[in-house]
Amino acid sequence: MTIEEKIQHLRKLIDIHNHNYYVLSQPTISDFEYDSLMQELIQLEKDHPEFFDPHSPTHRIGSDIDNTFDQVVHAYPMLSLSNTYTREEISDFIERIRKLLPDQSVEYVCELKYDGVSISLTYEKGRLERAVTRGDGEKGDDVTANVRTIRSIPLVLGGHDYPEHFIIRGEIFLPHEGFERMNRERLETGEPLFANPRNAAAGTLKLQNSSQVAKRPLDCFLYFLLGENLPYNTHYENLMKAREWGFKIPPHLKKCRNLKEISDYIDHWDSQRSKLSFDIDGIVIKVNSYRQQQLAGYTAKSPRWAIAYKFKAEQALTRLISIDYQVGRTGAITPVANLQPVLLAGTTVKRASLHNADQIELMDIRLNDMVYIEKGGEIIPKVVGVDREKRQPDSLPVHYITHCPECGFKLIRREGEAKHFCPNETGCPPQLKGKLEHFVSRKAMDIGLAEATIDQLFKHGLLTDCADFYSLKKDQLIKLERFAAKSAENLINSIEASKNVSWERVLYALGIRYVGETVAKKLAMSFSSIEALSAATAEELTSVEEIGDKIAESLVQYFNNEKNQKLIERLKLAGVRLKDEQNTKTLVSDKLSGKNFVISGTFHEHSRDEIKKLIEQHGGKNLSSVSGNTHYIVAGDDMGPAKRDKARKLGIPIITEDELLGMLRG
Ligand code: IVH
Repeated sequence: MTIEEKIQHLRKLIDIHNHNYYVLSQPTISDFEYDSLMQELIQLEKDHPEFFDPHSPTHRIGSDIDNTFDQVVHAYPMLSLSNTYTREEISDFIERIRKLLPDQSVEYVCELKYDGVSISLTYEKGRLERAVTRGDGEKGDDVTANVRTIRSIPLVLGGHDYPEHFIIRGEIFLPHEGFERMNRERLETGEPLFANPRNAAAGTLKLQNSSQVAKRPLDCFLYFLLGENLPYNTHYENLMKAREWGFKIPPHLKKCRNLKEISDYIDHWDSQRSKLSFDIDGIVIKVNSYRQQQLAGYTAKSPRWAIAYKFKAEQALTRLISIDYQVGRTGAITPVANLQPVLLAGTTVKRASLHNADQIELMDIRLNDMVYIEKGGEIIPKVVGVDREKRQPDSLPVHYITHCPECGFKLIRREGEAKHFCPNETGCPPQLKGKLEHFVSRKAMDIGLAEATIDQLFKHGLLTDCADFYSLKKDQLIKLERFAAKSAENLINSIEASKNVSWERVLYALGIRYVGETVAKKLAMSFSSIEALSAATAEELTSVEEIGDKIAESLVQYFNNEKNQKLIERLKLAGVRLKDEQNTKTLVSDKLSGKNFVISGTFHEHSRDEIKKLIEQHGGKNLSSVSGNTHYIVAGDDMGPAKRDKARKLGIPIITEDELLGMLRG
């Protein structure tokens, strides 16, 4: 066997074992044997790069190179299904089909409605060429690199009788077990939890780094074929054929002839769905024959030949024993019901959210009442109603708390917000801990620290605010339970490394109300240091693009608070970056120093961003709207008349792109 043949042979062999394991769930070799084959192939490919093939199973481990998701137009639009919720509507659907196809016998295919993310796969000559998300139905994101890592999706097809070109569509999802494992890991590393498997699958599919995707146990069921030369003229038979080519076609399909059979299918899965290892949210009914599908046709959004029946969210009825009030990291109060334990959709539920004071009043809930609970999109289930008939004479009205259960501060209610808040941002333990967790998180200072460790350091009084990180000592840590010499050293190193985190991320890390990642970026672009930012008036702040009154007010309040001022001083002393080092370095001149510009219209020589950058490089500042603070307006083509009027009224000079460039040269 030549090297090339050996490589080809290994690729085929591994593809077959992959299929046995991930599609058929019937492995025929041990993990160890599988790993050895894989290692052998990896080595051969490394030694012989001339035989590179993107479809080799070795590429399933993904790559560290950041993905960009190009937009791709779907060759056939990705339609949605119209939803129904009752048997009458199903019966109406069958009646409609009967009228559209008079005197014809119609065969239906019933399937489960998988609750994941839909995907469209294109195969050319038996190889996966492209994977695109649904997007807006017309065009979606090219996520091929990520999808290649999903083991149950064949990269190369088996058999020979597949069309040269075809599309197959299906649903990418996370089985329960994988989802729970992922959330357990996220809890460990202090990352926010995913609310449900669908969100987790969607989030994973959009990760930029495919080697990260490869670590998550995504799976994919296929349920729809499209193309010119499909082997059969019926949906069901084509899917069965696709199963032979290696696709994971779900086993729950059933051909039905009438309403009774469809109804039985619905009943069966409504009662059995909690036993499945993945989420479904209903069933789908499709006309089997393509010819009949064509005759029935389409509306603008969905086929007339198919319909979805959505299950009602499962509910359980149980007794409300007491109410706890949880204080979130932002100070928001959530009332949480302690319940008599009850089984709901496969798990035992003991606690459920009661949302807020208004909801409790609106639902007229009393202690000792029998309440309905439901699993929604959130992590913990919610109370959705009360059974008034079962109310006992010993039921007690709910007295909503007026003071924070953690720190005793009087609660407030901000205008337009449904929740009560504890305003003691700088002294209330869960809020302090929340700030610490946010500070160390990956997109902020990226100090690898689990929630539980923060808890421990907080309890021992070693941490109360984020400046405390920088005075932690190795010997203090070693004395604690979770730490060994090595882990203590790692933490100290990771804290040290955080001093190189950029100014915009430090600003985000401070956890100022309403200052998320994007806002922090915008602010850091306009204010090159914390001094400049803290000295800015609300008016100066709102003149920055995308900064509104609410954010400006929150910033002013933050910097007026003496505790925050002290904190910033300590961070500065510790050596944390509180100014834009890059910007000061790349300052080309100070010709525009102290001058504020507003850019309007489109330009010829440079793009808007280039012009903005030029202004900043020469010490000027970009504002988003014209105000008394504006010194110049740089106008391109089609500058808005409103801006022109305002400029005229305020007597602000309007200059052209050329004139701006002239100022820089002069
Ligand atoms: S068929 C033209 N079959 O439900 C019909 N869709 O609203 C194409 N879905 O976007 C879809 N399970 O993401 C079909 N067995 C199934 C499905 C299914 C889940 C999703 C799919 C689609 C949405 C329709």
